[in-house]
Amino acid sequence: MTPTGTSPKILVTGGAGFIGSHTVVSLVEAGFEPVIVDDFSNSERSALDGLRAILGRDVTCYPVDCNDAVAMDDIFQKESPLGVIHFAAYKAVGESVAKPLKYYRNNLDSLLLLLELMPKHNVKNLVFSSSCTVYGQPEQLPVTEETPRLPAQSPYGNTKAIGEDILRDAVRANVPVKAMALRYFNPIGAHPSAQIGELPLGVPANLVPFITQTAAGIRSSLTVYGNDYHTPDGTCIRDYIDVMDLADAHVQALRKLNEDTAEASYDVINIGTGRGETVLNVIKTFEQETGVDLNYVIGPRRPGDVEQVYADVSKANTVLGWTARRSLAESLRDAWRWQQKLSL
Ligand code: WQD
Repeated sequence: MTPTGTSPKILVTGGAGFIGSHTVVSLVEAGFEPVIVDDFSNSERSALDGLRAILGRDVTCYPVDCNDAVAMDDIFQKESPLGVIHFAAYKAVGESVAKPLKYYRNNLDSLLLLLELMPKHNVKNLVFSSSCTVYGQPEQLPVTEETPRLPAQSPYGNTKAIGEDILRDAVRANVPVKAMALRYFNPIGAHPSAQIGELPLGVPANLVPFITQTAAGIRSSLTVYGNDYHTPDGTCIRDYIDVMDLADAHVQALRKLNEDTAEASYDVINIGTGRGETVLNVIKTFEQETGVDLNYVIGPRRPGDVEQVYADVSKANTVLGWTARRSLAESLRDAWRWQQKLSL
């Protein structure tokens, strides 16, 4: 069944990616019509099959690089979206250190192009994918949106901080866009149907996909990067946010922007659970929820890791009327179900 013509369209750049594809589901469930723009440089077309299985219909997808000005102008012309959710970006912290110019070019040019095309096509609402990485190792915890940003630990993190500054300065100069930067904490989990999930291409850098691949026997063991931190069990603390809750936060942000009558506005909001979890507790919770004994060893600290960061989410509660609903256990159960599906 092809998309209906009545629901307001939302351009979702990077919509075939991990967070993007889950947000596409939430958008449809909220009565919007997502239009995906994805060049599949860091995602797979199989995500579109997963979306069809969940939604029972196709989602329009333009296999386009969102840095392609001619193609993007044409898409705006054709689709006349109510808003844009901009996920498309390279996001591998380690790779960004090795190839900084690739990251600055791709991640920043795509945002600058959107800020040129949106006013041209009278599109005002923009949700920007930012990251808690802009906080570095905060002095005080939990971090609020007023917690000072620290110099980014990587070019990837810097593209998020610069992206926020571009939005702030554009709005100050009355570029007619209403923008919201959502600072994600650590996204984990998968859609309960196991039709879509996190597709780490290559060896996973992130904790939860490494856990599920170890549990599936793809990796021989997990290395816990340091247990000599000043935390209850010596391992790092993070705020693990379920990808379905994260997706819902984007829909709430879009609704909030659309209600805003201002010509131009910019805001930043933390999207996390507000709870900090140690690495060892994530492992223990995974073992309890799945019954799988995880083979892990304690190794040296990973350079660049912050000791602990987790969110104060009161602004998301008051401004967006949003709060995370899923538990760590639920997220890990869904992540494991997705890994088992991948291993079939
Ligand atoms: C979490 C914890 C590791 C792997 C990164 C980006 C951030 C965001 C989320 C995009 C840390 C430990 C991990 C392993 C381990 N990405 N760990 N063994 O580094 O907090 O954040 O991903 O926006 O911008 O920086 O996430 O999952 O890599 O690590 O012990 O094999 O798990 O040391 O304490 P991180 P992570």
